[in-house]
Amino acid sequence: MSTNFSPYVTALQTFYNNVGRSYNTMTKSVHANGPERIVEAAGAAIKEGSSVLDLATGTGKVAFAAAGKVGASGRVLGIDISDEFISLATKMAEDTGVSDRVEFLQRDVGALDLPEKSGKRWADAVTCGSAIAMFACPKALLNTLAGEVLKPRGVFVADMWATHLPAKIFLDVAVPRGFESPFDPLWLSDTEEAFRRVFDGTKFELERVEKVGESTARWDAGSEEKVEALWNSLAVEQTWLSFGLDKLDKQKVEDIKQAWTKEIEAYKDEEGVVVKEMGQWIAVAGSKE
Ligand SMILES: C[S@@+](CC[C@H](N)C(=O)[O-])C[C@H]1O[C@@H](n2cnc3c(N)ncnc32)[C@H](O)[C@@H]1O
Repeated sequence: MSTNFSPYVTALQTFYNNVGRSYNTMTKSVHANGPERIVEAAGAAIKEGSSVLDLATGTGKVAFAAAGKVGASGRVLGIDISDEFISLATKMAEDTGVSDRVEFLQRDVGALDLPEKSGKRWADAVTCGSAIAMFACPKALLNTLAGEVLKPRGVFVADMWATHLPAKIFLDVAVPRGFESPFDPLWLSDTEEAFRRVFDGTKFELERVEKVGESTARWDAGSEEKVEALWNSLAVEQTWLSFGLDKLDKQKVEDIKQAWTKEIEAYKDEEGVVVKEMGQWIAVAGSKE
């Protein structure tokens, strides 16, 4: 297994390995139907007999949704950095009797060492659920996909769930205070524009970006302890947010926490509850190659 990852990718891997099997429960209501919508958005590129590459497959939700469409004559390859997710997804494929058409491999998409990239362009579609914002060099990745993985005029479909309110507030208050975000905060404030920027100047033509779903989750933040617990779970335990927090001195982190807590207070309703609103944005792009 290739595990020679950068410190950033290793930190993400550790985070997702720890999430492990609780990922599906955590995202069940928030990402409801999201994977199926990604597959639908690919249109005729994902049909009986198609070959699909699912980037950052996680527990394989998009890959399994694609497997349902491609049937026994198709093929789906899911890749991810988390060995824990790869094991879980592989077991799920065996348990559900689809391991003849779905395979999972541990890979860093940033390393561009995608399997079977050399020589043969094999995929009809590439999918990517809730992960593109985390990739260090998405344009280079897209160009590799268009030139070396996707068949001519193949389709790329990705989604991002935004806005995750406490995370957006975190970036709003932390970036001006010296926190270096591991991803562009634009993903949380203007997801459509963030997608446009990713595809701009690449070998892909962005066909559309649309908001296709919404979900709302509510946290009980009715007491100081509960707000503190929310801060710990979002800003400290979630690696993708805490990235770089350890580089700031303690006072700065405390300032960020104070500012975040004050902003969060504004989102409490009469029951003392913070509301998290999210929307699913799907981007569909066609390879120009
Ligand atoms: C929010 S999860 C999404 C999982 C899945 N696609 C879904 O829709 O449920 C983000 C995933 O991106 C993966 N990931 C992050 N950076 C990656 C990279 N450079 N290469 C491969 N996978 C990566 C993580 O391991 C994690 O499984």
